[in-house]
Amino acid sequence: MKKSLLIVAFLLVAVTPFCQNAERFVNDLLSNMTLDEKIGQLNQYNGDWGATGKITPEGDKEQQIKQGKVGSMLNVTGVETVRKLQALALQSRLKIPLIFGQDVIHGFRTTFPIPLGEAASWDLSLMEKSARIAATEAAAYGINWTFAPMVDIARDPRWGRVMEGAGEDTYFGSQVAQARVKGFQGQGLGAVDAVMACAKHFAAYGAAVGGRDYNSVDMSLRQLNETYLPPFQAAVNAGVATLMSSFNDINGIPATANSYILREKLKKEWHFNGFVVSDWGSIGEMIRHGYAKDGYEAALKAITAGTDMDMESRCYRDHLKQLVADGKVPVSLINEAVKRILLKKYELGLFSDPYRFCNDERQARQVNNQENRRFAREDGEKSIVLLKNDPVNGRPLLPLFPNNQTIAFIGPFVKATVANHGFWAISFPDDSTRIVSQFEGLRNQLDASSTLLYAEGCHVNDNDESGFAEAVRVASQADIVILSLGEAPDMSGEAKSRSNLRLPGVQEALLETVSAVGKPVVLLLNAGRPLIFNWASEHVPSILYTWWLGTEAGNSIADVLVGTCNPSGKLPMSFPRTEGQIPLYYNHYSTGRPAKDDDDKFYVSAYIDLPNSPEYPFGYGLSYTTFDVAKLQLSSDRMPIQGGRLNVSVEVKNTGNYDGEEVVQLYIRDLVGCVVRPVRELKGFKKIFLRKGEVQTVSFALTPNDLKFFNNDLQYINEPGTYEVFVGHSSLASLKGTFELIK
Ligand code: GLC
Repeated sequence: MKKSLLIVAFLLVAVTPFCQNAERFVNDLLSNMTLDEKIGQLNQYNGDWGATGKITPEGDKEQQIKQGKVGSMLNVTGVETVRKLQALALQSRLKIPLIFGQDVIHGFRTTFPIPLGEAASWDLSLMEKSARIAATEAAAYGINWTFAPMVDIARDPRWGRVMEGAGEDTYFGSQVAQARVKGFQGQGLGAVDAVMACAKHFAAYGAAVGGRDYNSVDMSLRQLNETYLPPFQAAVNAGVATLMSSFNDINGIPATANSYILREKLKKEWHFNGFVVSDWGSIGEMIRHGYAKDGYEAALKAITAGTDMDMESRCYRDHLKQLVADGKVPVSLINEAVKRILLKKYELGLFSDPYRFCNDERQARQVNNQENRRFAREDGEKSIVLLKNDPVNGRPLLPLFPNNQTIAFIGPFVKATVANHGFWAISFPDDSTRIVSQFEGLRNQLDASSTLLYAEGCHVNDNDESGFAEAVRVASQADIVILSLGEAPDMSGEAKSRSNLRLPGVQEALLETVSAVGKPVVLLLNAGRPLIFNWASEHVPSILYTWWLGTEAGNSIADVLVGTCNPSGKLPMSFPRTEGQIPLYYNHYSTGRPAKDDDDKFYVSAYIDLPNSPEYPFGYGLSYTTFDVAKLQLSSDRMPIQGGRLNVSVEVKNTGNYDGEEVVQLYIRDLVGCVVRPVRELKGFKKIFLRKGEVQTVSFALTPNDLKFFNNDLQYINEPGTYEVFVGHSSLASLKGTFELIK
C-alpha cells in the first residue's frame, strides 16, 4: 500500500509541472493562432509516396504545409521524407510541427502475427512486447503515431477485419487493448521509441450487418455499452493518446458525428484528454450516408459531435472557416479540438525538438534486427492453435520425428514469402528476401537423413487442377504429407468481407485428392479469420491453425511441427460449421427454449439441419501434452457487493508426455438478472507452464466489479443473486462452483 502511495505522490509531483507547462505553452500558442492556422491543425493529408518519392500530383501539399494549413500526415515513411516535410512545417509562421501517422498494426520492419493470431496466444506480455518493438522500429523511421490497436469486438467472421482485432469477447478484448496500448506508448509519450496509440474504430464497427464492411450497425445502447464500448474504455484507462471514429453509422447516426459515443461517453464520462481522428474520409462520407447534404454540413456535424481531426476528407479545411463566419460553429469548439492535438504534440516533445524522431543511425539499426526476429519467431509459435492431433497407427502425427523420413510439403503457401505478413503489413522492397517461408523453415529443422519434397498442388483461388498429379506423385513418395492451405492474405482485412468462408479455389479438392493417396496428412491452415473446413475436420488427423505469422513464419511453424515448441494457442473466436450459423459466439443468451445439446431439435432454439455448437469453440486449443483441471475451490459461497472478494482456485496437472503451456480460463454465469444474462462470460485467464507430471494451483480473484453489467436504464450495476463459476481449458469448461452475491 505504501509503495503505491509513493508512486502516486511521485507522479503528482513529477507530472503536475509537466501538465502545467504543457497547458501554459499550448494556451499561449493557441492565443497567437489565426483561425486558418487553427483549422490547419485539424487537417490530415495522406503522404501517398515512398520514403524518397515526390509529393502527389495535387502538388500544393508542400505549400499548404509551409502555410501551417496541415497538422498531420499519414503514410509517410522514412527519416529522409519526414525530415523534409517537418522542415516545411517549420517555415510556417508559428513553426508548429507535424505528426506522422501510420498503420503499424502488427509490426513494422519486423512483422509479427496478425493481431487475431497473436490474440490466440492469450499472452498479454507477448502482445505488449510486440507492440513495443513495432513502436521502436516505426519511431526510428520518423513515425510518432500508429493507428492501432484495433479493438473492435467481432462476432462475424465474414467481416474481413476480424484479422485486425482480438476476437469476440469483451473482457478478453479489453485486456488485449490495454496491453497493446501500453506496448505502443511504452513508458509514456516523449520517449523517442514511444508512439501515440489509436484505439479504433470507435465504435461497434465489427457489428456491421451481414459482416459486410462499412455496413450499418443497429443495436440497443445497452448492448453497445455492454459488449462494444468496454475495450475502448480500457484503452482510455490505459492512457491511449487518440481514438479513430469508425465508418459505420450506429442506430442511424454515423460514428464520426455521433455525440453519444464521442462526447457523452468518451470525453465526458471517460474523461478522455486525447484527440479523435476520423477514419479515412469518413467526415465527407456522411454525404453518401445521407446524413449531410454537403461538406459544409458534414464538417458542422463532425466538429460539433467531437471528431477533432479530419483524415483526408478536406471538409474541415474547406468549410470550418465559413461555419465560424456563419455563426454555426463557435471558435471555442475549434479551440478545444486544436488544443487536444497541440497537447499531444507537446507530449511527444515535438515543440522542443521537431526532428527528434529523425535519426538516420537509429533508423538503420532497425533493418533485420536479429533480436526482434527472435522474438517474432517466439510470438509466431505461441499464436499457433492445434485443432486436432488424432492418433494414426497408435500415435499422433505431431510432433513430427523427421529423421530418416520423406516429407511431402504441398500447397500454394509452402514457398510463399510476403504472404506470411498477412494484411496491414508495411511493405518494404527487401521483404521477399527477409521473410522465412514455410518450406525454408522446415528445411532449417531437417538433417541429411530427411528428404523434403515439394509441390504447389494448386493456386490459391482458381479452378486449375493441373498441379494435382504432381502433388499426388510427391505424396506417394513420402512417409508423411504436410498440406499448407487457406485463404490469401488479401482475402481478409479492410474491405475483404467474404460470404463464403470455405477454402477458396480447388484447395478442398486438392486436400481430398492428396488424402486419398493414403499417407498420413498434417494440415496447416493460413487465414486472417475463422474459415470453414468441415471435410478436413472430419478426415484429417492433425490440423494446425497458423494464421499469418509474419517475418519468421516459416521458423515458427517448423518449431511447432517438430516439437521444439509445444503449441499453446487458444481460439479468440468461435469457428462456425457453416456461414448459416453466423453470428456465432459463446457468450450468447439462453433464450426461453435452449437446446439441451446438439441433438435436441424438439421445439427449441436450434437449426434442424445443423448442430448449434461451433466447429471449434471460443478458448479452444490443444497441446502435444494433456492437462487436467480439478479441485475447484471457492474461498466462500457468498460475496457481499460492498467490498466483497472471492478467490477461486483449481489444481492443474500436466498429465501427458511433454512440457507445455495451458491457458486456464474462468467463466461465470449470472443465473437470473433484471435483463437476461449470457450463459457464460470470460472473467479471468492465466497462461501457465507445466513440466510433464507437474501440478500447479491456479487462483483467480473475483470482485463485485467483475460481475457488473448494464441494465436497461444504462446503469452499470451489481445485482444480488446466484452465480456459477466454471474453470477449464475453453468456453466449454465444466468444472463448476456456485456462490451468492449478496447485498
Ligand atoms: C483505413 C482504415 C483505418 C486506417 C486508416 C488509415 O481506411 O479503416 O483502420 O487506420 O484508413 O490508413
